Amino acid sequence: MKAIRRLIVLLIGTWLLGHVAAATNHVEFKPGQIWTDTDGVPINAHGGGTLFHNQMYYWYGEIKTGKTWTPECNRSWGGTRVESVGISCYSSKDLLNWKNEGTVLPAVQDNPQHELHKRKVLERPKVLFNQTTRKFVMWMHVDSEDYQLAHAGVAISDSPIGPFRYVGSSRPDGAMSRDMTVFQDDDGKAYLFSSSESNATMHISLLTDDYLQPAGKFIRVFEKRFMEAPAVFKHQGRYYLMASDCTGWQPNAARSAVADSIWGPWQELGNPCRGPEAAITFRGQSAYILPVAEQPGTFIFVGDRWNQFDLADSRYLWLPLRFTAQGFEVPWHDTWRLPLAATR
Ligand code: GAL
Repeated sequence: MKAIRRLIVLLIGTWLLGHVAAATNHVEFKPGQIWTDTDGVPINAHGGGTLFHNQMYYWYGEIKTGKTWTPECNRSWGGTRVESVGISCYSSKDLLNWKNEGTVLPAVQDNPQHELHKRKVLERPKVLFNQTTRKFVMWMHVDSEDYQLAHAGVAISDSPIGPFRYVGSSRPDGAMSRDMTVFQDDDGKAYLFSSSESNATMHISLLTDDYLQPAGKFIRVFEKRFMEAPAVFKHQGRYYLMASDCTGWQPNAARSAVADSIWGPWQELGNPCRGPEAAITFRGQSAYILPVAEQPGTFIFVGDRWNQFDLADSRYLWLPLRFTAQGFEVPWHDTWRLPLAATR
């Protein structure tokens, strides 16, 4: 009898422990540490970006899970990969506690010809809401396994939590497009920033009013600077860009730039990272710069700390930005909170 009672107590205790752990309420950002969702499962949204819509933040990213391997075609440059699963979406009101909303754009399992087939590349999703069409438009890097297709892809949805319908992909303005982001200006116009010309030069392309394709107007910037991982934001009327050098999954010194007009001239400002390992972006790479909606002028650097040999164990680096007389900085914090206050 005693043994049964002990077993019951043990079972209830284990159940309770599991649920208490799952219900962890995050109160501070811990860059580089495992970050669990509201179910207690590590967040799986890499190379991502966020959208603020109807008082809710949505975080979209690449799902990286399963075994990491190196396809023969990418061996020369260390291009490891996992099978593509699709694009995830999480929702949050406080930017710390994220609910998994599921896979909003799944990879294609059975048709190897499809651009979203699981053996191909699906990276860096970014979602905008179009006020006129009331559609959610996702732009992403769509590529072949050897990265030679170099396309930008588009998907569309009626809801921020999907499902997104894949529209297709292209070389914007006839030019290669690999690492990319989209930026929506205050006047509703949106732009695609992408690493073009074999990653050597960045292109900035105006999108059509429905955001579904390039409008035909673009400029070439940072010629032969090999910038990847672009992230763009606007503060007090000026446009800022953060990006990386071009070294695959290996970290490098970040880049930054400023312009008074999206069409330039863009002035490079150097590596904005400050603190330990700032010279290699804290072992990470930019993905997005998040404007905190409730605190105008507050921005968060959203980065990835890739684990090249176990991509599923890649982590996130969320760090607060700080403005300077010339531009902005990204100082390291072991932990920090909003409103901006470093706790350690
Ligand atoms: C990086 C790029 C990532 C991914 C990776 C593949 O340079 O920023 O998004 O494409 O290369 O090795």
